[in-house]
Amino acid sequence: MRIFEQLESEVRGYVRAFPAIFDVARGSQIWDEQGRRYIDFFAGAGTLNYGHNNPIISQAMIEYLQHDGIVHALDKATVAKKAFLQKFYDTILQPRNLDFKMQFTGPTGTNAVETALKLARMVKRRSNIIAFTNGYHGLTLGSLAVTGNNFYRDEFFGMRLNADQMPFDGYFGPDINTIDYLRKFLSDNSSGIDLPAAIIVETVQGEGGINVASIAWLQQLEAVCRDFDILLIIDDIQVGNGRTGTFFSFERAGLKPDMVTLSKSIGGGMPLAMLLMRPELDQWKPGEHTGTFRGNNLAFVAATQALSYWENDDLSDAVRYKGDILQQGLSAIAQKYPELEMRLRGLGMVWGLEIPRKGFAGEVSKEAFANGLVIELAGSEDQVVKFLPALTIEEELLHEGMAIIDSAIGTLLARKREAMKGESWG
Ligand SMILES: Cc1ncc(COP(=O)(O)O)c(C=O)c1O
Repeated sequence: MRIFEQLESEVRGYVRAFPAIFDVARGSQIWDEQGRRYIDFFAGAGTLNYGHNNPIISQAMIEYLQHDGIVHALDKATVAKKAFLQKFYDTILQPRNLDFKMQFTGPTGTNAVETALKLARMVKRRSNIIAFTNGYHGLTLGSLAVTGNNFYRDEFFGMRLNADQMPFDGYFGPDINTIDYLRKFLSDNSSGIDLPAAIIVETVQGEGGINVASIAWLQQLEAVCRDFDILLIIDDIQVGNGRTGTFFSFERAGLKPDMVTLSKSIGGGMPLAMLLMRPELDQWKPGEHTGTFRGNNLAFVAATQALSYWENDDLSDAVRYKGDILQQGLSAIAQKYPELEMRLRGLGMVWGLEIPRKGFAGEVSKEAFANGLVIELAGSEDQVVKFLPALTIEEELLHEGMAIIDSAIGTLLARKREAMKGESWG
């Protein structure tokens, strides 16, 4: 590990939580340089919905490189891009009756978010954007302004201009409808909140702690957008691409967003990001929003293969089936250790086990890693253990991973009890 400490910036994050030198990865398993095996319940924070080195995807990339397929072409027309555009239209847009233009941005999620915010402001000729408490949209300056967690913000690079945060669904508990609050602020011209160009929202907040917006809340949010002529941007970077059981996470609420940001798994494991927009919103002048790495062709090849999972309902069915296994397994764990007062939240194959006791979730992740499971945390205090396995994970690995969590919690509790020698703790 010394070379990473010596030569790589202090900004290193995940390497500290998972201190191993990883080497080989296949499906939902990773091996480090010592040959130690880990089950992956992290899936690149939602990038590996189809697993590591999915053979269908890898094979197409190998063949593309072997015939010297063009890899870098800026935004020129290529055979690989043509295939992707057609496949995305045929398998995703057309069957859902969605009329969107596609814009390829720089390859990470935050690039797609920046693009959406910029276009919304340009089209609506308004500068303000509304986002939600606990929302996460990336860390470049525009996206950072609409990201909630102040761990990422230093007041000197904060630039919180032109962005307001409103309470997400359930922020004040189950009895307060936060849409009423939003509507009141928008309709009162003395509320201090400027009419925004757009509202950006995750239908299930990933980094924010697996907070699932209800269907009613999402539909009311869409109605607010229509009533006040505000664009609705769904950030589907983490929970799109089938994570919740449908390709887009907003399908469960029947929304018709104005823009959708996609990244992470859209590239089938390769860096790719895109913005979907209603055709009337596509008001860019040629080349007005550009960048060197937009739509890398190897990523298009991978992405086109990944979309073959959407030619039928098998993957959606698998997400529902394995999502139930996760829900049942995790509820059983929550019930087994009532003293921890854990709360389970989620949908499809994204689940969060909130452990209110300070620092405990972090210890669970650490103990699980020591026992061969890579699992991340979420929430403003890292209080949520986040279950985000590949959608293609084998059922046995799902059970094996949950058993590691169960025994990690049991071990930690036993250790605490031992340390307290029978006294009550907490
Ligand atoms: C919902 C959402 N939006 C945007 C981003 C930013 O993506 P990236 O880290 O690729 O810039 C993330 C990353 O986790 C995300 O979860």
